[in-house]
Amino acid sequence: MSVAPVSDEVLAIHGGSPVRETLLPYGRQSIDESDIQAVVETLRSDWLTTGPKVAEFEEAIAARVGAKYAVSFSSGTAALHGAAFASGLQAGDEAITSPLTFAATANCVLYQGAIPVFADVLEDTLNLNPELAAARITARTKAILPIDYAGHPADLDSFLQLADHHGLIVIEDACHALGAEYRGRRVGSVAHMTVFSFHPVKHLTTGEGGMVTTDNSVFAETLRRFRNHGISSSARQRQSAGQWHYEMVLLGFNYHLTDIACALGLGQIKKLEANLARRRQIAARYNAEFREVPGVLPPQTRLDVNPAWHLYPIRLDLSKLSADRGEVFQALRAENIGVNVHYIPVHLHPYYRDRFGYKGGEFPVAEAAYECLISLPMFHGITDGDVDDVVRAVGKVLAHFESSL
Ligand SMILES: Cc1ncc(COP(=O)(O)O)c(C=O)c1O
Repeated sequence: MSVAPVSDEVLAIHGGSPVRETLLPYGRQSIDESDIQAVVETLRSDWLTTGPKVAEFEEAIAARVGAKYAVSFSSGTAALHGAAFASGLQAGDEAITSPLTFAATANCVLYQGAIPVFADVLEDTLNLNPELAAARITARTKAILPIDYAGHPADLDSFLQLADHHGLIVIEDACHALGAEYRGRRVGSVAHMTVFSFHPVKHLTTGEGGMVTTDNSVFAETLRRFRNHGISSSARQRQSAGQWHYEMVLLGFNYHLTDIACALGLGQIKKLEANLARRRQIAARYNAEFREVPGVLPPQTRLDVNPAWHLYPIRLDLSKLSADRGEVFQALRAENIGVNVHYIPVHLHPYYRDRFGYKGGEFPVAEAAYECLISLPMFHGITDGDVDDVVRAVGKVLAHFESSL
């Protein structure tokens, strides 16, 4: 169903009636009774932290993404830190990543005392540009961290080829891309290490939570130790072996994901396929609706991928509008559409500007995209009526700013 824009409707921001009475968030978890039951059962069990549910959840994720190993962490950020550690990054090293990401992708390099080196993004997918990344490789480069922006897989084969050629590790930040496919392969089974997040706005949630998947047994073992203070055996292993002795073999952290969280994750993973299907359905509807709306550039999808649609970021064609992104954003918020912006380019954050001297202008594609990006509501629990509201509000707001140009 198409919901035609009406250009003469008074915008809510100008005193008109909003498209909806209540705010529709841009992302939200779905928790059902079986999830709650699974958590309650774990609360009644012997294990609250690393117990049987952790191993079960790790196995379920490894099986879903087609990787040999999955190692859970207390967040996607902690998982990125673990992957940066396992890749061997240390002071004096560099890792190349995208500026158009959540800060954690670059921060994990800094946690290791290494330097994140940015390369600009591709105009179509807004993912790290392999040619520009290649141009930034030096003798100090140890890793490349492409991110699957909005759930669209990065150009993984190009990065793996670069890695082969220069002896680098590819850490894919797939925090947006659980369930995505790249050239017929599942994200999580392609890069040397792949990182997922289970934050509530993601495809499945454990509250906070993250995972690294890999086919490399050395990485997997290092990751397990790193999240366990650097200790070589878990409390559960020691208990079942009747042993007390343990050794700390490297400097790690307490980054455990709890059994309580993994019980929730095991409930949630049963709904992953349905969640992905729903997100793809919403993206198809938005694509069809927005293709014809002047001033809107829908996200672009390459033919060799099946995105997971964590986000649905449109770009505004500001040359066709009498407003900038900020005004369109405020107007949509006033219509009770909970839009968001992904992302302020990492190098433009005060910390990165102060520490590395970025001034803006270094990564023109990412910076230009940032000026016109707006993420529309995208989550598996959204109703068809909610989607109608988004389509109507975008049509209403853009028709206004287009006609007043
Ligand atoms: C691209 C990206 N990387 C890393 C993270 C960090 O994940 P978490 O919030 O689980 O720490 C996020 C979180 O939203 C993200 O979007």
